Amino acid sequence: MGQPEFLAPPRRLDAPLGLDPASWSPRDVYHLHTALITPRPIAWVSTRSAEGLDNLAPHSYFNAVSDDPPMLMFSIEGKTDTWRNLQEVPEFVVSFVTSALAEAMEISAVRMPPEEDEFAWAGLGKRAAERVRPARVAGAAAALECTLDSVTPVGRRNHMVLGRVVRYHVSEAVWREGRVDPSRYRPIGRLAGHYCEQGRRFRMRRPEFAALREHGAAGAARLTERTPLPDPDSTE
Ligand SMILES: Cc1cc2nc3c(=O)[nH]c(=O)nc-3n(C[C@H](O)[C@H](O)[C@H](O)COP(=O)(O)O)c2cc1C
Repeated sequence: MGQPEFLAPPRRLDAPLGLDPASWSPRDVYHLHTALITPRPIAWVSTRSAEGLDNLAPHSYFNAVSDDPPMLMFSIEGKTDTWRNLQEVPEFVVSFVTSALAEAMEISAVRMPPEEDEFAWAGLGKRAAERVRPARVAGAAAALECTLDSVTPVGRRNHMVLGRVVRYHVSEAVWREGRVDPSRYRPIGRLAGHYCEQGRRFRMRRPEFAALREHGAAGAARLTERTPLPDPDSTE
């Protein structure tokens, strides 16, 4: 059997692209998929092997899936150390990556033998978690201790990990008036193959349906009242 013939992504579009993903190579589909679904949050996942070896790796196929109880998912490509550790110790910690920890996060993504400890290579301290065995990243602005709910194969190569948050940790530095303050808590995101920091923020109002009915579809957008919020870097 020969290799399937894939079309190359066009260099330039003269009309909008409409694509059956089966017609591009998996690599080209990966580039399109991750460039469109963006920015993605980054779960910096720590796990521990049965012998007690710590592992740390970033995962940007990551999101919240429930809040009662609080649950999240991330997806592992292949049978990595993270995947293997979860078979042995079904617990993990998601630490969040703010700008000061970006380089350490990048180092922790280096493929290394399972006996190597990414915390050490990235110069990161460990803090003991309270409800689970894996360590959390010292200095992270927030971390979620999780127990493993399920691991489900998805697609050809991935495993979707569903976890339940059993303990939250939030630094006082990002807390204001009873909540996480989004202008202080600014985790970096994955933007295609690059990274982003949070940019311009704005508020919108969601009208009631009665107001929509009154104004009609043509006037609906005006009801949302977009208001810019101050730049988080401003000193105000
Ligand atoms: C920002 C970023 C996001 C990543 N997202 C994922 C992901 O969602 N799933 C995945 O399997 N690997 C992802 N990786 C790659 C893993 O971090 C990398 O393969 C790592 O070596 C796996 O480590 P482990 O074998 O220690 O588990 C990502 C890497 C980076 C830098």
